Amino acid sequence: MSNESTTIRWEQDDTGVVTLVLDDPGQSVNTMNAAFIDSLDAVTARLAEQRDRVRGVIVASAKKSFFAGGDLHDLISVTPETAGASYEAGMRVKRALRVMETLGKPVVAAINGAALGGGYEIALACHHRIALDAPGTKVGCPEVTLGLLPGGGGVTRTVRMFGVTEALRKVLLEGTQYGPARALENGLVDELVSDPGDLLTRARAFIDAYPESAQPWDAPGYRVPGGTPANSKLAAQLPSLPALLRKRTGGAPYPAPRNILAAAVETAQVDVDTAFEIEARYLTELVTGQITKNMIQGFFFDLQAVNSGARRPKDVPARKVTKVAVLGAGMMGAGIAYSCAAAGIDVVLKDVSADAAVRGKGSSEKLCAKAVAHGRTTQEKADALLARITPTADTGDLAGCDAVIEAVFEDTALKHRVFQEIQHVVAPDALLCSNTSTLPITVLAKGVERPRDFIGLHFFSPADKMPLVEIVKGEKTGEEALVRAFDLVRQIRKTPVVVNDSRGFFTSRVIGRFIDEGVAMVGEGIEPASVEQAAAQAGYPAKVLALIDELTLTLPRRIREENRRAVEADGGTWQPHPADAVVDRMIDEFGRPGRSGGAGFYDYDEQGRRAGLWPGLRAHFTDPAEQPAGLTELKERMLFVEALDAVRCLEEGVLESVADANVGSLLGIGFPPWTGGVLQYVNGYDGGAGGGLGLPGFVARARELAARYGDRFTPPELLLSKAERGETFTDA
Ligand code: NAI
Repeated sequence: MSNESTTIRWEQDDTGVVTLVLDDPGQSVNTMNAAFIDSLDAVTARLAEQRDRVRGVIVASAKKSFFAGGDLHDLISVTPETAGASYEAGMRVKRALRVMETLGKPVVAAINGAALGGGYEIALACHHRIALDAPGTKVGCPEVTLGLLPGGGGVTRTVRMFGVTEALRKVLLEGTQYGPARALENGLVDELVSDPGDLLTRARAFIDAYPESAQPWDAPGYRVPGGTPANSKLAAQLPSLPALLRKRTGGAPYPAPRNILAAAVETAQVDVDTAFEIEARYLTELVTGQITKNMIQGFFFDLQAVNSGARRPKDVPARKVTKVAVLGAGMMGAGIAYSCAAAGIDVVLKDVSADAAVRGKGSSEKLCAKAVAHGRTTQEKADALLARITPTADTGDLAGCDAVIEAVFEDTALKHRVFQEIQHVVAPDALLCSNTSTLPITVLAKGVERPRDFIGLHFFSPADKMPLVEIVKGEKTGEEALVRAFDLVRQIRKTPVVVNDSRGFFTSRVIGRFIDEGVAMVGEGIEPASVEQAAAQAGYPAKVLALIDELTLTLPRRIREENRRAVEADGGTWQPHPADAVVDRMIDEFGRPGRSGGAGFYDYDEQGRRAGLWPGLRAHFTDPAEQPAGLTELKERMLFVEALDAVRCLEEGVLESVADANVGSLLGIGFPPWTGGVLQYVNGYDGGAGGGLGLPGFVARARELAARYGDRFTPPELLLSKAERGETFTDA
């Protein structure tokens, strides 16, 4: 009982309405920690005891958000030995919420902000959910995105609210976080209020109107909507569920969606208390597994470290950008302009002609129209966004811009010229950024008078959607420029990873290894369909040969030539890659440079759609004698070659933190989400056997691959020394 008066405050008015105020002392958010669980036990026991004096219950929060969910520090450290205690803690929460739910008195959730995961599960145990109609309000069960399952009654109750198939689609398998309007529309909340003061007033009105509330599933004759597998309606839908699962996971073996699916179907068929146990068992299986730990590490802890500016120098004050110049209104410039305008920044979008600039703004118009049509924004907000973008061909319009993002053609001389044209027009201390994807920042910075203010801001395509920006420090980039770039990326609500200048930076360099490996496999005579299948089953969002076709084969050839010249200029010896000969033959001998050229590893129809792998690949490259033992080795080659190069990036100082490596690989270049990122993959390496082998196992396997396929698999010194010392890749 000791925490009752602090973590959950009991406030009872003289009409008998009890407000349970969630207010974890000393914390900025409420989480499901041990103190909360004790407190929940205590207040629900008191509710049961004083039932006759209670007329209704309101669950409210004293924090900015309603409730943040489970404590992920606890969850990531669960071991098979501690799993029993974790299971029991979860069951205690569910039993307590069940007491509240079956009290026979109305219970209302007053959702004043984010109620995600455990927070939404508390709300689900209430009879009525009222949410504040404000941007900070988000509800849903995003557990699946961290490899988890809503084990606080979330599966059991959503299945009873929506039916198995709808609960899976709406809440459980996608992990969608709903804003207020969509939450109401989809039945996740029952009522919205626009004034925070109305939350409690409306909650009292519900209590007055429905004094004997109970959950529908506790009423006599209740049936799960859409039926249970025992009745024909759901039985008819069951065959479609695996397809739903595949949509969520691709070919990769994600355990969370599989367990969620099983839990949803099973919990629908039993009473609530049994359902709670089933749910808890499936959750326990997940939290003891490596993939869930990987996902929590990469998508929660590393992402949080990166976004919160763990490596942003603290002594430089934050400064907001108010007017940005975007140079080049092509594919990237147009998307960057949209992202900036969406964040409330005025944008001057400049191209060589007014027509080109207006065309660039046109892509924002299309994005806005789509967002309005799908109810993601209002016409008024869309109009305001568009009004912030000024297309122009006139350099004079850039006066007063406090930041510049250049996205003209990939050409050093052109970029130098463009910066020279504008550097005296924009604000005298404007931040100068280039979105180059391949040119060294240090070389580009030679074209400006203030190299300390010059920095790389590498967006990903499509720039309006992709969440990552790779910030690239040149040799002369000053600390203040780094901080301003970091703050600008956060201002436009994207995730910044910070790297040092190097050929291909971090992301392009590492994804290049993946592409080379896939192409090398074709050169070895391996069936191209197997190569594509390996990429899909490893969990990559794009198949490797399809990806290189999109990029066009001339791009890696150009980068290779630039790299070769750079290595030779430094007096080094250029090491050719087995992929090179395949790329050269595809371009020179077969005239197949990729999709934009109408033909590549794939054939394309007249609309440019993929029409199957080019049969000529089999004729010219495939060697039936060369088929490997199985897909596992092909998958590992792709994953290893990227992970090993990420280790080299860390060793060479291109990367400065493990979190940057993991987040950059997950959000920028499609490294499979189940790994938790390139370096977390090494930490959690299990050889497919389910048992953590970690760094020593990874080293042993890398050596085997090196013996078979060459030096690119040789473990770098940093990896060897960490493996020997029994360490993993983590930030201090
Ligand atoms: P794009 O060819 O679509 O657009 C380039 C635009 O720059 C064109 O509209 C062109 O008219 C304009 N331009 C040329 N000279 C100009 C000048 N003097 N002043 C103003 N505008 C001028 O090219 P894209 O794909 O947008 O790429 C732009 C930059 O972004 C390049 O540096 C590229 O390497 C980089 N990048 C591209 C990515 C991609 O996926 N396409 C990804 C990340 C970076």
